[in-house]
Amino acid sequence: MKQDMIVVLDLGSHVNTNIARAIRALGVYSEIHPHDIAVKKLQSMPNLKGIIINGGENNIVDGVEIDVEQELYSSGIPIMAVGHKKAKCSMAFDSWPEDEDKLNVLLRSFIFDCCKAQANWNMKNFIEDQLEQIRKQVGDKKVLLALSGGVDSSVVAALLIRAIGKQLVCVHVNHGLMRKNESENVVKVFRDQYDANLIYVDASERFLSKLANVSDPEHKRKIIGAEFIRVFEEEARKLEGIEFLAQGTIYPDIVESGTKTAKVVKSHHNVGGLPEDLNFKLVEPLYYLFKDEVRACGLELGLPEYMVFRQPFPGPGLGVRCLGAITRERLEAVRESDAILQEEFAKAGLDKKVWQYFTVVPDFKSVGVKNNARSYEYPVIIRAVNTVDAMTASIEQIDWPILLRITDRILKEVPNVNRVCYDLSPKPCATIEWE
Ligand code: XMP
Repeated sequence: MKQDMIVVLDLGSHVNTNIARAIRALGVYSEIHPHDIAVKKLQSMPNLKGIIINGGENNIVDGVEIDVEQELYSSGIPIMAVGHKKAKCSMAFDSWPEDEDKLNVLLRSFIFDCCKAQANWNMKNFIEDQLEQIRKQVGDKKVLLALSGGVDSSVVAALLIRAIGKQLVCVHVNHGLMRKNESENVVKVFRDQYDANLIYVDASERFLSKLANVSDPEHKRKIIGAEFIRVFEEEARKLEGIEFLAQGTIYPDIVESGTKTAKVVKSHHNVGGLPEDLNFKLVEPLYYLFKDEVRACGLELGLPEYMVFRQPFPGPGLGVRCLGAITRERLEAVRESDAILQEEFAKAGLDKKVWQYFTVVPDFKSVGVKNNARSYEYPVIIRAVNTVDAMTASIEQIDWPILLRITDRILKEVPNVNRVCYDLSPKPCATIEWE
């Protein structure tokens, strides 16, 4: 193991992640574990240097007081307790200081003076440790990965290829609702640059025929989600000797899906998934990383910047931006106008500034005039928003000349479109996506 570690034990405090991040900011790796983790398990972690028991008022869950295993106090591992019993701990406090500098002084004194940890947390060491762990877990067996081309699955692929090469089998399902050139780029990067064992499945026709005449947004989502699992499962059953399934689960997915002591915020599409009879064991090498760390890991592994800094893209893809019942004509209008928006945003430097930006094509037409004749065609709506957590969002106030250039190009280059609008609505009352 290349890096020392401080474990934060979760007793229901909502600042666990802040503490873990503050420790990492001091250069020491930190993981959060459930309060009832076995002491033996902690003792078997070769790089563990100290433990923070993070309680506070919340160490009562559902009316029951929770506690760590009592042997922990005599395990010899340095312990800092916050808001908890002060029994035999190296350091103990009633609460965390609100002032960031004071918090850092406290953490420094525990981590470096008391635990004698080294500040050796960096991406190179993280990757080295993961390579060792992946090889140990997987041995000579094969691992399957659904490679969407999103940041998380791409970083998992790059990491696993470095660890086990062709033992990783990547499956990329093109559901026909990807952005322009997106699937082609996944194939280009992973087959050509990484020499990956990659199965490309063009399931566009299958998805589009299942979605024909379906206009309800949630129904569309369900069809896309279920069909995705079916296609992936069919591919998995064709392969032999696969024992492991790799997933791009990252730490915020776990927190949002609820831990033993933290309440469920929302169920996340990465957690759960395939039918149980496939019986895969999971490989989740990004489990303890935050999003910015996942991106740093991707860069360190040589992934192109456009992949690592990609804006969020919903699982159902352009399917929820081609409003109502999807038609090929309107789907192409979404894809082409989106590509123009991406290009122009990149030229104006807005791609690094705006959190999410895309186009939407509704399922109604309006009257216009083209080549001196009446036209009856679709509008394109531009949406560009900024947010921290996607729960609320504000619109980006784009300069007129940029908006006018984008409008001009869309009207000239995208067939079946005669009007461009800019969506000014914040979330709430609107949502980020239109469906
Ligand atoms: P809303 O529209 O709810 O979107 O304001 C918030 C964020 O979530 C993304 N989004 C989805 N992501 N599957 C996903 O994986 C979905 O069905 C889905 N719907 C919305 C959206 O792009 C935005 O970033």
